[in-house]
Amino acid sequence: MDEDKSPDEFRTYKGRNLIQRPFFLIYALLGVSYLLIIIGFVVALSKVATVSSEISKMRTTLAKDPFQHDLHLFPCGADTRQWEYFSGKCYYFSLKAVSWHMAKAQCEQQHSQLVIIDGFAKQNFIQTRTRNERFWIGLHDLRTEGEWKWLDGSNYRTGFQNWKQGEPNSYQSRDEDCGQVWINGEWNDYTCNSESYYVCEKPLPVKPTAASKRT
Ligand code: BGC
Ligand code: CA
Repeated sequence: MDEDKSPDEFRTYKGRNLIQRPFFLIYALLGVSYLLIIIGFVVALSKVATVSSEISKMRTTLAKDPFQHDLHLFPCGADTRQWEYFSGKCYYFSLKAVSWHMAKAQCEQQHSQLVIIDGFAKQNFIQTRTRNERFWIGLHDLRTEGEWKWLDGSNYRTGFQNWKQGEPNSYQSRDEDCGQVWINGEWNDYTCNSESYYVCEKPLPVKPTAASKRT
């Protein structure tokens, strides 16, 4: 049949073929693009579905056990701003000055005890919060003059000590049988009936078990 076509017709035929080819390519590319867009859309949708199902699972877990969430954010309890966390324990810095015995009793009422300073790290933590104010600590020589003891029976003699130079001194022959942190956080012995602020220390609150929550 081509033989019947004039050279002009032939050129036209061949020319149309040449012109049509790029259109085919464009259609093919558009088709592939649509396909890719649809695949991307499906992948994105499935990701959104996965993330939202994870969020709803987390919400359910937290709704069942809010304590878990709070404990993470506030290791010393979500219901109070008074207990501060430091290195695995909780600390209370009193806002009122009382005698050493009263301070001891008030810590015990709060299921804690006057702080035991057993090293530089804790000393540093305590002194940055007490500044140069007097705060009672869990140290005394009430039983035998000069025999200092920590309330929890920790080793005093060869353990960490941070007495101010010249202390303990039972100043002016007064009976200074109770320990406190004072200027620069250094320790001073002071008359137990005098009033000082105090620092209590307690372990982290324990996460209630399923059994204890039922009772
Ligand atoms: C002394 C301390 C004493 C304190 C009593 C200071 O001047 O150096 O040893 O405990 O007075 O306020
Ligand atoms: Ca003293």
